Amino acid sequence: MSKGLLDNLRIRPRRMRRFEGLRALTEETVLRPADLVQPLFVKEEGAKEPVESMPAVYRFSIPDLLEECRELLDAGIRAIALFPKIPNDLKDSTGTEALNEETLVLRAARALKEVLPELVLISDLALDPYTDHGHDGVLADDGSVSNDSTVEILARMAVLAARAGVDVVAPSDMMDGRVGAIRQQLDEADERETAIMAYSAKFASAYYGPFRDAVGSVRSEEAQPIDKRTYQLAPSNCREALRELSLDESEGADFLMIKPAGPYLDIIRKARESTHLPIAAYQVSGEYAQLHAAAEKGWLDLDACMLESIVAIKRAGADVILTYFAKRVAERLDD
Ligand code: PBG
Repeated sequence: MSKGLLDNLRIRPRRMRRFEGLRALTEETVLRPADLVQPLFVKEEGAKEPVESMPAVYRFSIPDLLEECRELLDAGIRAIALFPKIPNDLKDSTGTEALNEETLVLRAARALKEVLPELVLISDLALDPYTDHGHDGVLADDGSVSNDSTVEILARMAVLAARAGVDVVAPSDMMDGRVGAIRQQLDEADERETAIMAYSAKFASAYYGPFRDAVGSVRSEEAQPIDKRTYQLAPSNCREALRELSLDESEGADFLMIKPAGPYLDIIRKARESTHLPIAAYQVSGEYAQLHAAAEKGWLDLDACMLESIVAIKRAGADVILTYFAKRVAERLDD
């Protein structure tokens, strides 16, 4: 045999990848159903409604939501994040309905906690499902989103959520000082066990489009997507994101979230290295929709891309992953 160029090559990493048993032994990041949170949409009544831009995602009435959560628990998903879609005629410019003790999301929370107390119930805190303009806060006279009056409302929403049985409130609004204000208000209301998952580094992302369909927060005749850049972060800014993360930690957050997840893996990694708090990452509606769309065209393998996209988020440093794929992942990991 002629002398090969690599005859003296002693270090051959491919040895470790030769067959499945060896590959499993050296697997570094392992996805578990218990890492995942399933976001769910609740609506007032009637049969479950598909969300057009999010295949296999539905808006559920409260009875159907209970059934779905039972199935999730059976599949090994122990946590859900709840989002309401309320009728348009309940929306107004200040989001009054958010402070109604009988509002949809609070009724859903009470029903869930009564039937499935072991489920970790996370509830989003923001005004966008309740405002007719679709912003996450109330507007000042000049049309800007008013920070301090929005925070007052969020803190009151947090107490109502805690009383309805929500385990973790998740402010997703990006107002300044809201984590500290919510913590203070919860403690004063004797709701000390309610945790805060802060959407700390939430970017002004174009990937939220399908979600806004799901909660009906933009009227369909509006051609322009709503502009949230006065409160959400610029996609270009990493240091500013880290500053938001450390502020939320100092204000008393129990989890810090980065959102979206896939396009911001560098931020997840940096966050992981700069705090001891659990890091959550939200694989958002647009990340979900794009995989489904490509798979529908036969261009991508949905399950393979789904698992790859989510293991990447965990590998980057996320401990908790919110993803519309949660149930599907749990079902696939099972076999
Ligand atoms: C709003 C909120 C949004 C999402 C979660 N909470 C949308 C927004 O900020 O406009 C997006 C989630 C997703 O796209 O899956 N408070």
